Amino acid sequence: MTEPTRILLIVTGGIAAYKSLDLVRRLRERGASVRSILTAGGSEMVTPLALAALSGEKVYQDLFSLTDESEMGHIRLARDADLVVVAPATADFLAKMATGLADDLATTVLLATTAPVLVAPAMNVQMWAHPATQRNVKRLRGDGIRFIDPGSGDLACGEEGPGRLAEPVDIIGAIETLLAQPKPLHNIRALVTSGPTIEPIDPVRYFGNRSSGKQGHAIAGALARRGAEVTLVTGPSVQPPPPVACLTQVETAEEMLAACREALPADIAVCVAAVADWRVKAVHKQKLSRRNGQPPRYEMEENPDILAQLSQTANDRPRLVVGFAAETEDVVDRARAKLERKQCDWIVANDVSDDSNVFGGDSNTVHLITSQATETWPRLSKEEVADRLAERIADALVEPTARP
Ligand code: CTP
Repeated sequence: MTEPTRILLIVTGGIAAYKSLDLVRRLRERGASVRSILTAGGSEMVTPLALAALSGEKVYQDLFSLTDESEMGHIRLARDADLVVVAPATADFLAKMATGLADDLATTVLLATTAPVLVAPAMNVQMWAHPATQRNVKRLRGDGIRFIDPGSGDLACGEEGPGRLAEPVDIIGAIETLLAQPKPLHNIRALVTSGPTIEPIDPVRYFGNRSSGKQGHAIAGALARRGAEVTLVTGPSVQPPPPVACLTQVETAEEMLAACREALPADIAVCVAAVADWRVKAVHKQKLSRRNGQPPRYEMEENPDILAQLSQTANDRPRLVVGFAAETEDVVDRARAKLERKQCDWIVANDVSDDSNVFGGDSNTVHLITSQATETWPRLSKEEVADRLAERIADALVEPTARP
């Protein structure tokens, strides 16, 4: 491994857990940093002290640990990893993963992570061959989980056959292959806007919108995973940010524009934020009171259009400017008109009408619109939309004729 890699190792309760200590040692020898989560079963097999001593890091065990949550938080634990490795994974743990249970720290982190996950199962030969286990493995593979299958040989239970944890050196080989994914956006600077903006009315009230930041954050993460140096400029969002080079948190449209200007020059700009079109002209210094009698009337003024400004910047215009268009009717036509009006290169259009469940939801049906063509993508998770868009961006930057 040439770059320091952050590995999150989950050790579950198989007898092969002792081999995880060797795995940690070898990973560290190769320059990786290793954080470990020990399940309740895992801690029957290896001690947290042994794992902590070998990894040189604290070992995490409880979901509801006040200290751990205040120091790190399980979502950050999930997000701060380049790769999650489960070794050994018991039959029980595979079943939990396959059904999406989140009843302890390890399973919760696995649901929250956006990093690739590599699983090294280890169990009795019959347990491995059991249709229920094989069904779970198949389902997990379908979810994009990678496996390094167990080897054959004498098992701790006295039986023989497939079920032995893969050797640490082979697990390392699988890790290296996984992490050696190409980084087509290396040396590329990307700016991504995400989340809502909120526009103050008085010291306690604001106008806002229902954007969750999920799609924008996923795009920032997908670009960063492909090697881009990403600046994520986000309005208030409860969404944990992906690992990016620079994170700027803002509230208003004007702050977002200033942060975007600050992030230039950039090769790519992707404007996903749901920027408020209007702001209150004169923000009240004091809290408005009901006792004033009449319902308040607000004089509004227009906010800057960040996407249009980035697209029309004379100097420093990013080579590729991508906007989003959230529409409730005539989705493609309106989005194309927006592309022309704002002069961006691509628009990703989606239907946000009441029954689409896009705002706050996990999936999105989008159209990718360019000056020449429109592509309709199938219904995808927001992570998948992000990955697909990042691939298209990489193609376009490497080979301009690859633009759709
Ligand atoms: N956008 C922006 N700044 C604004 C408004 C929108 O950067 N002040 C960007 C959004 O991030 C998105 C695109 O413009 O990439 C389209 O946003 P949308 O809200 O769909 O369009 P509007 O410009 O608000 O147009 P309309 O109100 O007519 O739908």
